[in-house]
Amino acid sequence: GPAGLGVEVNIDYVSVCVVDLAGTGRVRLTEHLDNRGAPPEEVLARAAGIAARTLESAREQELRPVGVALALPGLVSGGTVRQAPNLGWNRVPAEELFAAALAGARPGHRALTVTSENEANLAALAELWFGGLDDLRSFLYLTGEIGVGGALVINGELLRGAHGFAGEIGHVVVDAEGPRCRCGSRGCLEQYAGQSALLRAAGIAESGGGAGVAELERRARAGDGRAVAAVAEAGRMLGRVLSGAVNLLDPDAVVLGGIYRNLMPWLSPPADQELTGRVVSGLWSPGSGRLRASSVAGDAARGAAALVLTGVLADPVAY
Ligand code: BGC
Ligand code: NA
Ligand code: ZN
Repeated sequence: GPAGLGVEVNIDYVSVCVVDLAGTGRVRLTEHLDNRGAPPEEVLARAAGIAARTLESAREQELRPVGVALALPGLVSGGTVRQAPNLGWNRVPAEELFAAALAGARPGHRALTVTSENEANLAALAELWFGGLDDLRSFLYLTGEIGVGGALVINGELLRGAHGFAGEIGHVVVDAEGPRCRCGSRGCLEQYAGQSALLRAAGIAESGGGAGVAELERRARAGDGRAVAAVAEAGRMLGRVLSGAVNLLDPDAVVLGGIYRNLMPWLSPPADQELTGRVVSGLWSPGSGRLRASSVAGDAARGAAALVLTGVLADPVAY
């Protein structure tokens, strides 16, 4: 039957997911690789290669993808990445480049339409559509990646802003004199709470294959002082910035995804403490359950795949 294909192209991995009309993830593939420094054409060609292999498995399961959505770690609008700081991309026509690469990787196949969206936004939509947090209508979503991604869901709808760029919480300033950020500014949140910053503070080399983050979790669980302190400091910075966002938007909850999911035991107490002290409504306290771990793993690719199907459902006869 009809299916959606979601392709998340992140800094240190590509993740692909095929979702059927029931919303179930049927094929999933994640490859760890380093996309930094490579030309966008090359990065998107790698992703298209992985997508082409996924489409083969989908066909064996008699799934027929009707389109592709790209989940990208940057500011996305009109098919173009305006800026993806940690990829070093500026004004990259990602949809067009990916479509061409996918056509090249699948000669003789019908072309699939390609759409694109910020990866944190898609992860938040996956949470909204598939998460176990279904009492949530308004929430802030943060994803720990090499950068820090954010999304705002208000009354069951993604808040996109005037140009589709809302939610960039990773570039909220924490310290105006802080370290240079890949966006060009200084002291942005992701310089304190992003994956690279966390590993550096914990004294762990940023090796590929997700090994660095696994090592951080292992050390935190073992009670390693430096690892626990690094995660706690990230939690404090997250809590501080989040308190500002909560004061502005009054959400039901804040949901943490990406690398934060498994770091909650060490991350959430200091974050909760900052929020409790700084949220003026008084609606925040450590026991309130308002700071939650994302309930959907591999979220952005799944959200992307499902996004494709919202088009099918809106216009079923077209397929
Ligand atoms: C980018 C965001 C992205 C986040 C997580 C940030 O540096 O500006 O668009 O969602 O990293 O990848
Ligand atoms: Na976003
Ligand atoms: Zn920045």
